[in-house]
Amino acid sequence: MTQNREKWGSKFGFILAAAGSAVGLGNIWKFPYIAGENGGAAFIFVYLICIGIIGFPVLIAEVLIGRTTQRNPVGAFAALTPSKMWLSVGFLGVLAGFMILSFYSVIGGWTIGYVIETLRGSLSNFHSPEEAGVLFGVLSGSATWTLGYHTIFFAMTMFIVVRGVQGGIEKSSKIMMPILLSILVILMIRGMTLPGADKGLAFLLVPDWAKINGQSILIALGHAFFTLSLGMGAMMTYGSYMSKKDSVITASAQIVFLDTLIAIMAGVAIFTAVFASGLDPAAGPGLIFQTLPAVFAGMTGGVYFSFLFFLLLAIAALTSAISLLEVVVAYFVDEKGWNRKGAVMIFGGSIYLLGIPSALSFNLMSDVTLFGKTFFDIVDFIASNVLLPFGGLMIAIFAGWVWSRTSVMTAVKEGAEDLFEAYPWFEGVWFLFLRFVAPVLITLVLLNSLGIM
Ligand code: TRP
Repeated sequence: MTQNREKWGSKFGFILAAAGSAVGLGNIWKFPYIAGENGGAAFIFVYLICIGIIGFPVLIAEVLIGRTTQRNPVGAFAALTPSKMWLSVGFLGVLAGFMILSFYSVIGGWTIGYVIETLRGSLSNFHSPEEAGVLFGVLSGSATWTLGYHTIFFAMTMFIVVRGVQGGIEKSSKIMMPILLSILVILMIRGMTLPGADKGLAFLLVPDWAKINGQSILIALGHAFFTLSLGMGAMMTYGSYMSKKDSVITASAQIVFLDTLIAIMAGVAIFTAVFASGLDPAAGPGLIFQTLPAVFAGMTGGVYFSFLFFLLLAIAALTSAISLLEVVVAYFVDEKGWNRKGAVMIFGGSIYLLGIPSALSFNLMSDVTLFGKTFFDIVDFIASNVLLPFGGLMIAIFAGWVWSRTSVMTAVKEGAEDLFEAYPWFEGVWFLFLRFVAPVLITLVLLNSLGIM
């Protein structure tokens, strides 16, 4: 089975697919609103440091573990250590993929729903974010609307993954990622040419350090993780289809670069428009579905920009969703001998079903709560705030302490000899971050999520 395991067609295809996984709702929906809530430029500065000191080193480790073993997260740990404990780390990753995809698809569905609503003209009559908020309440409050679009989004995800690594994931990423970048460039130019855009740029560029506190640093750390799709083996799985001729370090740097670039571009596009309309940058999660529709409604040609914006979100969500499904599929294909089609149908189908109560959390099941959280909130919390940081912590510890340093270095030098010759200090710095900085900081994020700190 090892001989005919699937592979990326090219390094470029891998970079686009992995950047597609990283660039998602996290970049275009969450990053702008948490930056908005936490004061803009100063928060972005802290976030960039977090990406550099924990995101990048852990990303290299994840891709490397996948590439070295050419296996899904469970099989990868099994190939590197006899200890059963590490198998469960891989297994928790597969479980996190299962859980994240179930609710990610609900929000992904909304983005497609908003593309359609734009085309139907229902988004063009707002005078304020409050009015846009009322429509958002009506749409998300409808079980048919949320379930319908969850179904459509999920069907698209399965349609791509069933076609395989090269024919599905890589090919669709090569089409969708350039479209995504082009749309962002258009929206950024639109935003920057609006009268009053300079206030938005100032918000993103002039730091107000008073806004930075322990809490915002932890938010930045947690987000650095989520945005790079770390902690559950998504990058490990994508790395497992990578050739040993290519450098893991360069590839990881390119993924980090694209992910960060796209988050910042989304911030520019959104905040120039929000400030030009005199609206509140700290609107929170409603920034995208409530503030922006009001911005578009007041803009000449706003329908076109609204259409492009929600299409951008839908593409970003879809390229991330396929990576989540691929983790689960790769596990059943590698470890349990399933064929791809069967695994996509059965396990994709189960994830879809798990998504139903999440879709209903905004309407029929909004009163069904535990500790004040709906089903959607609970699944999101366990996966994003507990399983991901835990997985990331384990991956850093594994690569830093458990997997022998000689083996790590032999593995990472494959395809990257020149890099280590040119920058001999890189090894020491990388290990310093993997062994000490990342584990300590991730532990803080985890303790904070659990309410212990
Ligand atoms: N990185 C994606 C985003 O920014 C979310 C995501 C996709 C993800 N795959 C993941 C997060 C795997 C964690 C793990 O929206």
